[in-house]
Amino acid sequence: MSKTIIVTGGTDGIGKATVKALVAQGAAVTIVARNKAKADALAAELKHETPNAAVRFVQCDLFSRRAIDAAGAEILATHPRIDVLVNNAGGFFAKRDLTEDGVERTFALNHLAYAQLTALLLDRLKASGPARIVSVASGVHATGTLDFDDLMGARRYAGWNAYCNSKLANVCWTYALARRLEGTNVTANTLHPGFVASRFGHNNGGVTGLVMGLAQRFGAISEPEGAKTSVHLAASPEVEGVSGRYFTACKEVRSSSASRDEATQEKLWSVTEALLREAA
Ligand SMILES: NC(=O)c1ccc[n+]([C@@H]2O[C@H](COP(=O)([O-])OP(=O)(O)OC[C@H]3O[C@@H](n4cnc5c(N)ncnc54)[C@H](OP(=O)(O)O)[C@@H]3O)[C@@H](O)[C@H]2O)c1
Repeated sequence: MSKTIIVTGGTDGIGKATVKALVAQGAAVTIVARNKAKADALAAELKHETPNAAVRFVQCDLFSRRAIDAAGAEILATHPRIDVLVNNAGGFFAKRDLTEDGVERTFALNHLAYAQLTALLLDRLKASGPARIVSVASGVHATGTLDFDDLMGARRYAGWNAYCNSKLANVCWTYALARRLEGTNVTANTLHPGFVASRFGHNNGGVTGLVMGLAQRFGAISEPEGAKTSVHLAASPEVEGVSGRYFTACKEVRSSSASRDEATQEKLWSVTEALLREAA
């Protein structure tokens, strides 16, 4: 039976390449993203390449808690089983801004959205086991810090720092999640995809967007290359049962020492749970 895989941010970049690779392996893939026109174009492209490609789309602006709740409900109503959730959608925002929920955008999209969607789908994943949760972090987590007095950069905001902090949150949160999943048939792993020539950072325009574009043009790997570790963790039999690990280039590596601090992981877990409860 083909695997049912949910991929957030599957309309562009690494997520799009992940969707393509998983569909090519015969998986039924549901893209959770905000841009219907891009999703429709991708579905048409995939169906042209593989006439029986099973691709679905759930529209969701992952900045919005209300939209994530609605998308979670739609997925549960239409997906009797979920084998894999790939939390991939993320971004870098040079300028600080808040979502409609009053949450700083980087923290909302890169961390809280991962946690909220995972919580909504967790029972279905458990019921479908063996199942996997794959969360795309970044090597720059190593330069991040988690300042629990100012997680949303209200006192001091620098876009790149906020991004690195959110990626540290991905790694810490995955380790805390994996601990909670011990004894179940669901695994949770996280990864660095490599430096990838995607549209990452282009939303910023101006000098930031230009510098980002240039760096990607000359120093980055392709999107399909960048999707390989996500695809490996989502679908390879090699990592069946492996949980609570950090990968790059399809290999397990050690994440930063800050990310391996259990007290930090647990604090982030409880702060995240409290923020999600507050919003419910
Ligand atoms: N590129 C790199 O070098 C690199 C390195 C390390 C880690 N990463 C991580 O890899 C992941 C994917 O990044 P990428 O490079 O593929 O970036 P990308 O090319 O900018 O693609 C991001 C994807 O996320 C979607 N997205 C953004 N904001 C959204 C929102 N509010 N609601 C719903 N979907 C939203 C985008 O949708 P639209 O199509 O609507 O814009 C797009 O599909 C991120 O978690 C990033 O932190 C990237």
